[in-house]
Amino acid sequence: MTPILEIKDLWHFFGGLCAVADFSLTVQPGDLFGLIGPNGAGKTTVFNLITGVFRISRGRIFFRGEDITDWRSPRIIAAGLARTFQNIRLFKDLSALDNVLLGASARHDYHLWDALFHTPRFQRVEQRWSKRAYELLARFNLTRYAATPARHLPYGDQRRLEIARALISAPSLLLLDEPAAGMNEAEATDLINLIRDLHREFSLTILLIEHQMRVVMNLCQQVTVLDFGETIAQGPPQEIQQHPRVLEAYLGREGNTSEQWPLSSNQ
Ligand SMILES: Nc1ncnc2c1ncn2[C@@H]1O[C@H](COP(=O)(O)OP(=O)(O)O)[C@@H](O)[C@H]1O
Ligand SMILES: [Mg+2]
Repeated sequence: MTPILEIKDLWHFFGGLCAVADFSLTVQPGDLFGLIGPNGAGKTTVFNLITGVFRISRGRIFFRGEDITDWRSPRIIAAGLARTFQNIRLFKDLSALDNVLLGASARHDYHLWDALFHTPRFQRVEQRWSKRAYELLARFNLTRYAATPARHLPYGDQRRLEIARALISAPSLLLLDEPAAGMNEAEATDLINLIRDLHREFSLTILLIEHQMRVVMNLCQQVTVLDFGETIAQGPPQEIQQHPRVLEAYLGREGNTSEQWPLSSNQ
């Protein structure tokens, strides 16, 4: 089977700082894959390299067997790769519905300008996509916010709206950057269940960045652990949580906080 995502020997430097060192990763279609590690480990940088936000100087990335190393973001998104951001990046003054519709802009025929001013082109394409957007809002329990500016949604709903927006383009690979960031425990638990369900319902492959171990341990089949840009462990969560270098990376520097520990939990 051709991997959906294959990263080979990827490096990235910010000036003298090595943020990603010789990183390799193979994600198979249907995987729910976790990328974890302490703050500053290089996780978001890996996403920015995959999605063409940063240029790649060393290493190669293949998406569905195609070399996308030199592609720019819009082309990568159009090819079926979608992401969310660690810091929410909604268009805060646009409605929840328009935010979801804009998720289709990379694949379809209008841009922010058209959406803002509801040009004829926007209206034509919008009709085709608004049904789909409403379906997604319903799936995420956000229908009541369809006409509400994104800034007025509760925080947890804004995070979920971002996922809905990513899904409208029907991606085959979804990258989630700390989707549970800033959520309380109950919200994070709901989100874990939602991601698990979406993975099944949409036949998605998901690569998930998490800082909180608990989230990944409950969700992912395979996990890669980064620390200071280096891959220190890879395998199923049960093995990862026993790994001495992982224990050291999490406990050694950040302390035994309830947010990240215990590694295993029952939910
Ligand atoms: N745009 C940037 N410019 C300079 N340094 C950066 C930039 N983005 C990230 N870094 C640095 O690269 C390292 C990895 O950051 P990041 O990928 O955001 O880590 P993580 O997502 O694992 O918390 C950190 O030391 C961070 O300070
Ligand atoms: Mg990050």
